[in-house]
Amino acid sequence: MQITISVPGKLMLFGEHAVVFGHNSLVTSVSQRLTTVVEFSNDDNLILTHKDISNDNYRKSIYELGDGEISKEARFVEISTKNFFQKIGKKKGVKISTQCPFSKKYGFGSSAGVTVGVIAGLAKLFEVPFGKKELFDLSYKTVLEVQGKGSGFDVAAAIYGGTIYFTTGGKIIEPLEVTRIPLIVAYSGIKADTVQMIEKVMKIDNREQIFQEIETITNKARDAMLTKNWEGLGSLMNLNQNLLVKLGVSIPKLDLMIKAANGAGAWGAKLSGAGGGDCMICIAPEEKKAQVEKAITDAGGEVVRVDTGVDGTRIES
Ligand code: MEV
Repeated sequence: MQITISVPGKLMLFGEHAVVFGHNSLVTSVSQRLTTVVEFSNDDNLILTHKDISNDNYRKSIYELGDGEISKEARFVEISTKNFFQKIGKKKGVKISTQCPFSKKYGFGSSAGVTVGVIAGLAKLFEVPFGKKELFDLSYKTVLEVQGKGSGFDVAAAIYGGTIYFTTGGKIIEPLEVTRIPLIVAYSGIKADTVQMIEKVMKIDNREQIFQEIETITNKARDAMLTKNWEGLGSLMNLNQNLLVKLGVSIPKLDLMIKAANGAGAWGAKLSGAGGGDCMICIAPEEKKAQVEKAITDAGGEVVRVDTGVDGTRIES
């Protein structure tokens, strides 16, 4: 029996960084889906075949999961499997493969996606019923164990899909009735390191005051989205961006792309995620969309076409 699970990628809309320290955020899922296939193996090994990376056929005894050197690519899968076995109190050899159609460079959340895909797939394979919150808790524990820091918003987006109001560790995970957001997404060409950026923010003296301001904006953005006030949402993006600049996480390339988008008629723009690179998002009237995209491209950005608010974790077969 083979189980195939697919999970969406994510984009942070509002509240990045503040969310790590207990504030709220708004997150949406994106239409680039990551696929995980799990099945039983014939022996006592975890066999890992990442279809899209080079280290095919990674193999480890299920009695040694988490021990010794683990390659970066294998880490999320191995620790997910170890934690799943620990949780259900039994283990068996499994073969797992993952396929990520989107480049990891965009920061759409491949680590969280792999973690959720593996745990959801194993739960189905071992016929252990896992609710969404249980899946979230075990996946979040795994992500923290591997990367040390993070709010878990990427895990929540992968599981719940749609657009959600979220606070750290899943204390609040509230799906919002938001239809497709007319968002433009563009990659800066620079790969960001989330943990490094969080550590940078931790050194800012007046960060708590800035987080409070971000929280107020995030709450307003929630209302703007619920009422489809896209122009208002754009203004709030600009305000959030100013605060991210104060936190020191924007970079000249993102500033340039954001300025270009606003200059070409966008209602507002901001970086999305940790900053230091990765993507920016902006919102623009339909009739200005093409010129905004051109301005972003002229500023050296790469427009990435995605839909937002798509399904969360799905069992495909
Ligand atoms: C990174 O995409 C967003 C941060 O808020 C980290 C997190 O919430 O885990 C910086």
